[in-house]
Amino acid sequence: MGFKNNFLWGGATAANQCEGGSSLDDRGLANVDLLPLGPDRRAISQGQKKSLTFEKDHYYPAHQGIDMYHRYHEDIMLMAEMGFKVYRLSISWSRIFPNGDEEEPNEAGLKFYENIFSECKKYQIEPIVTIVHFDCPVHLIEKYGSWRNRKMIDFYLNFCRALFERYKGLVKYWMTFNEINVILREPFLGAGLVFEPGDNEDQVKYQAAHHELVASALATKLARTIDPSNQIGCMLAAGDTYPYSCKPEDVWLAKQTDRKGYFFTDVQIRGKYPTYMLKYFEKNSLTIQKAPEDEEILANNTVDFIGFSYYSSKCISSEDGKYETTEGNLAVSLRNPYLSSSEWGWQIDPLGLRITMNTLYDRYQKPLFVVENGLGAKDIPNEQGEIIDNYRIKYLQQHIQEMKNAVDEDGVDLLGYTVWGWIDVVSASTGEMSKRYGLVHVDCDDKGQGSLKRSKKRSFEWYKQVIFTNGENLTYE
Ligand code: BG6
Repeated sequence: MGFKNNFLWGGATAANQCEGGSSLDDRGLANVDLLPLGPDRRAISQGQKKSLTFEKDHYYPAHQGIDMYHRYHEDIMLMAEMGFKVYRLSISWSRIFPNGDEEEPNEAGLKFYENIFSECKKYQIEPIVTIVHFDCPVHLIEKYGSWRNRKMIDFYLNFCRALFERYKGLVKYWMTFNEINVILREPFLGAGLVFEPGDNEDQVKYQAAHHELVASALATKLARTIDPSNQIGCMLAAGDTYPYSCKPEDVWLAKQTDRKGYFFTDVQIRGKYPTYMLKYFEKNSLTIQKAPEDEEILANNTVDFIGFSYYSSKCISSEDGKYETTEGNLAVSLRNPYLSSSEWGWQIDPLGLRITMNTLYDRYQKPLFVVENGLGAKDIPNEQGEIIDNYRIKYLQQHIQEMKNAVDEDGVDLLGYTVWGWIDVVSASTGEMSKRYGLVHVDCDDKGQGSLKRSKKRSFEWYKQVIFTNGENLTYE
């Protein structure tokens, strides 16, 4: 009983939140570089405020990140010390193709990741690569309108080919798009979409989503052709939506809300558009342009595993405005009175992870992979300068326990678990450094000031023990 012997324990980051070095070695400008710290971030992220150049009075935290670009040796050593089996990271698209539409990749960009993978190999850490974690080269946004344009499929595949060929033998696990459903909630962050006056936003988003889904299926095909041992996953921002009450209208609304996410995985796992989505398009007069071959492409190239992020469940009511709302992972939810919250209002629901895993497994019967889960907190050092983050340990302990219950008691097939932000990184939603998830602290404040020195938090030793005992010993004092 318990987790499989080869359970993939590790941690996750995304290129734009940790690398820095944003203009080094010919890297091109990307949407993720243009998200400032401060109140404008959300409007830009949602595609409501166009901002394709830097504004003088803004601070852009992705430029420095935590400077992993220069410090990956030390960082991988820390992962090895914790006993990581896997490291989930993403590739910055504009490092490999600075504009996105070149024919040949940028050697310096390819070399950078090759060095990382070789370093991981030294410690038997297997990389899990998210091909696109919110990145889109700005040139593709300006010239083609990003994913609203079908040409993006070819640019993306060119990018994938460069990766699959170069990293054959070094990388086996791939995920095509991080939190693919985020395109509906944060379209600029998720897919480089900027709305123009007069746009039917739903039309633009679902057309772009169709292109991503076809691109994902073709990338899956390509990965298998180049190396049949490749394992390809989708990646969903998950977390079941609960009805606020047992009123049927609330239950129905919760189901409809979750379908906005399952639409993506239904296509990526079952290989076709679900009927509820076709009806939604019909009812809302949305016409998705599809090429004649798309149906076959989607049907024949479904994924091997289901990667997903889980931070919290959500809650919804059919009675508009009646209940208090709270923030969640790039989404607003009603505040669930049965749950506590993080300092950013994200609610804490460990059992929700087990529920979500069961929903996904009941629906698809495919191996699951929890590729993001963690707690963002302020982390104040004590007088000795140490961070005793028992609250984070508690969060992780409770979530891992529920994950174990899903495996042991419900029979869910689970490949692994990568804690989000195993090292402090820039927050995707707020741009803050002070929203820390790490088991390793990075000396850097919201404005990028600090030595960038890495130091272990208490959770570091705790997670090491969890990995060492393959999840058997979750205790902490
Ligand atoms: C997910 C993303 O949305 O949640 C990550 O895939 C992100 O990129 C993580 O960092 C946590 O969110 P935040 O906004 O607290 O950084």
